[in-house]
Amino acid sequence: MAKPKVFVTRMIPEAGLSMVREFCDADIWPGDLPPEREYVLEHVKGVDGILSLLTTKMDPAVMDAAGASLKVISNYAVGFDNIDIPEATKRGIPVGHTPGVLTETTADFAFALLISAARRVVEGHNYTLAGKWKTWGPSLLLGQDVYGATLGLVGFGRIGKSMAKRATGFDMKILYHDEFVPDDDPFAAEVGAQSVDMDTLLRESDFVSLHTPLLPSTHHLIDATALAKMKSTAILVNSARGPLIDPVALYDALKNGGIAYAGLDVTEPEPIPMDSPLLTLDNIIIAPHIASGSVTTRDQMAVIAANNLIAGLTGKPLPNCANPQVYG
Ligand code: DGY
Repeated sequence: MAKPKVFVTRMIPEAGLSMVREFCDADIWPGDLPPEREYVLEHVKGVDGILSLLTTKMDPAVMDAAGASLKVISNYAVGFDNIDIPEATKRGIPVGHTPGVLTETTADFAFALLISAARRVVEGHNYTLAGKWKTWGPSLLLGQDVYGATLGLVGFGRIGKSMAKRATGFDMKILYHDEFVPDDDPFAAEVGAQSVDMDTLLRESDFVSLHTPLLPSTHHLIDATALAKMKSTAILVNSARGPLIDPVALYDALKNGGIAYAGLDVTEPEPIPMDSPLLTLDNIIIAPHIASGSVTTRDQMAVIAANNLIAGLTGKPLPNCANPQVYG
């Protein structure tokens, strides 16, 4: 029997790719950069499934190009803002994603950004590289304490909660804002986290860390108004999605003392343009969207993405489905 035809928009770790190759007739884009839009539209024609990355849009035009044979889209990411979910659901196409396995890895990195920004780790490294380290100095590159400070978590889902677990080890006061998590959430009680409104969180936190999905309602959630509510000593961390923050307002706040520092793993747009004013600042750390990037986690994501794809191709419910409403 002929194998189902799939298009894979980029190489993923072999742990998952070998499963895809074994089960499917796979057309895999081999480049390091995402394929051009025209290439995608051409190569999805008549496929049964698509394994996509967050760098390639899965919109109605792609679904149209694939045609009626398209049974499943499996995203190699927990986030799925690159996919038009209502459109996929309308067409009866289940969308897979990779939650769970990257939670701790992403929280590790977000906490690393938080500490690195607070203690100016990257500035220190650059200072050393530039040959400026002449002596120990009482006021050299002074930062802020993480221990005992207040952490504000915008979003208290899987990754937000893992940040809270880490924060308990630093005796931090933990605030969270998440309209989908009740005030009496048992995990919040366990770690001593307090539910507050967004204004209180912005006003009282020493560190504000974003863990909410990108939705129309969260686009530029951190804009000039939100930044103005934060402490001038506050540090903003974003390991979720770039467009949660208005980059123009962030530049202004960092440049003019509105807030003290930012640690970003994601930007708007991605990659950040080399002429972005944010790159001229000393009080920012920008990583290239690598928070889930441990060898183990990326392998696990690949296996989950392959399993979602294969389930969809065989008409089974996806083990990790972003639009379960597709099953009625
Ligand atoms: C995701 O999975 O959504 C991350 O942004 C990349 O791992």
